[in-house]
Amino acid sequence: MAHFERSERLKKIPPYLFVEIDRAKKKARDEGRDVIDLGIGDPDIPTPNFVIDAMNKAMRDPKTHRYPLDQGLPEFRQAVSKWFKRRFGAEMDPDSEILPLIGSKEGIAHMPLAVINPGDVVLVPDPCYPPYKSGTYFAGGEAELMPLTEKHHFLPDLRAINHYALHRAKMMFINYPNNPTGAVCDKNFLKDVVAFAAKHNIIVCHDAAYSEMGYDGYKAPSIFEADGARDVAIEFHSLSKTFNMTGWRLGFACGNRELIELLGKVKSNIDSGVFFAIQRAGIAAFENYDRHVKSVIKIYEERRDVLVDGLNKIGWQVEKPRATFYVWAKVPPRYTSASFAKDLLEKADIVATPGNGFGQHGEGYFRMALTVDKRRILEAVERIKKRLA
Ligand SMILES: Cc1ncc(COP(=O)(O)O)c(C=O)c1O
Repeated sequence: MAHFERSERLKKIPPYLFVEIDRAKKKARDEGRDVIDLGIGDPDIPTPNFVIDAMNKAMRDPKTHRYPLDQGLPEFRQAVSKWFKRRFGAEMDPDSEILPLIGSKEGIAHMPLAVINPGDVVLVPDPCYPPYKSGTYFAGGEAELMPLTEKHHFLPDLRAINHYALHRAKMMFINYPNNPTGAVCDKNFLKDVVAFAAKHNIIVCHDAAYSEMGYDGYKAPSIFEADGARDVAIEFHSLSKTFNMTGWRLGFACGNRELIELLGKVKSNIDSGVFFAIQRAGIAAFENYDRHVKSVIKIYEERRDVLVDGLNKIGWQVEKPRATFYVWAKVPPRYTSASFAKDLLEKADIVATPGNGFGQHGEGYFRMALTVDKRRILEAVERIKKRLA
C-alpha cells in the first residue's frame, strides 16, 4: 500500500485529544464495562422541540435546499443582532458585522488563515481548546503560550508576555467562560485586553462559546461591552451548548467588519455556508432563548453541585465553576494528569479528560464534563470513593 507523507503542518499537530479518548472509551464499552462518560463536552439533553419543529418545516421548503453561501440568511443575521443587543447591549450590524459559521470551531480554526502569515506569532492561552493552536499552525503561525494558572484565576497575565514574542504577535485568542478551567472574567479584564491589543496592534479573537452557561446568577460579558473592542476584536458564538445543538453545526462570528469580511473570504473558498434550514432553526432558537436557557442552566447547576459537593465530601478540594459545564480539578498527589485519567477509566470506568491534553499548563489537572444526569454523577462519586480514594 502506498505510504503518504503527512504535510509539515499536520506533523506539528498532536492527535486530537477527544479522538484518542473516544477510542479508549469504545474499547472499555466493547469489553462490556459500564462507562460513565465525563469526557467530551457534548450535552446529553436533546435539542428542544421548538428548534426541531422549525427545522422540519424549513426542510420542506425547497428554497432552503440550495447553496447558502457565505453571508447566509439575512433573517438569521437579524435574529442574531436582535439577541445580541438584548443580551449584551451592543449593536451588531447584520449585514457587515455578523457571519454565520458551521459551528464556532470552524470559524475559530479558519480565522488565522485570514490574517496570519508564516512566522507571525499568535498569543494562545494554555491550557486551551485545541483549535487555537492547530488553526495557528495550519496558517504557518507560531503559538506563544499565555499560561493560565490558578494563582492568576486562570486569566492570562498580559504583563508577563515575552516582549520579543509580543513584538511579532498579530493575534490573540482568549476564551471566557473558559474551557477547560471553567474560569470566568469580568468586564474590566476584557477592557484591559482591548486596551492592550490596541496598544500593541493585536487582533483579539474572543471565544464566547459558553457565554450563556453561567451559574449563581453570573452573566458572562461580551468583549463588545468594552469600549474600543470593535476596532480590534472578533467574537465567536455557538448555539451548540446553549441549545443542545452540537451535531447541528451552527454558530456565528461578530465584531470588527474588516475581520468579518476577511474570515468570510477564507470561508467562501473552503465551504459554502450553513444549510438554510439550520439557519431557520437557529432563528427559532433565539426566539425561544429566554424560556429555554433558564431550564438548561438549572440542570447543569444541579449537576455541578452534586459532583463538586460529592467530591469535597470524600475529602477532595474542588471549586465550583461559575460557568461552563466543566469541573476542573487537581489530580491527587503522586498522579500525573495522564496516569490519573487512566486509573479513573481502568479502576472506576469513568472517562475524564487529562488536563495536559489541553496544553502543558494543564498538567496536574483533569476535567470532568457535566454531561450525564445527576444519578450517574452520584454513581461516579461513589466509584471514585470506593475504587480510587
Ligand atoms: C471553548 C470552545 N469553543 C468553541 C467550541 C466549539 O463549539 P461548536 O463548534 O460546536 O460551536 C467548543 C466546543 O467544545 C469549545 O469548548
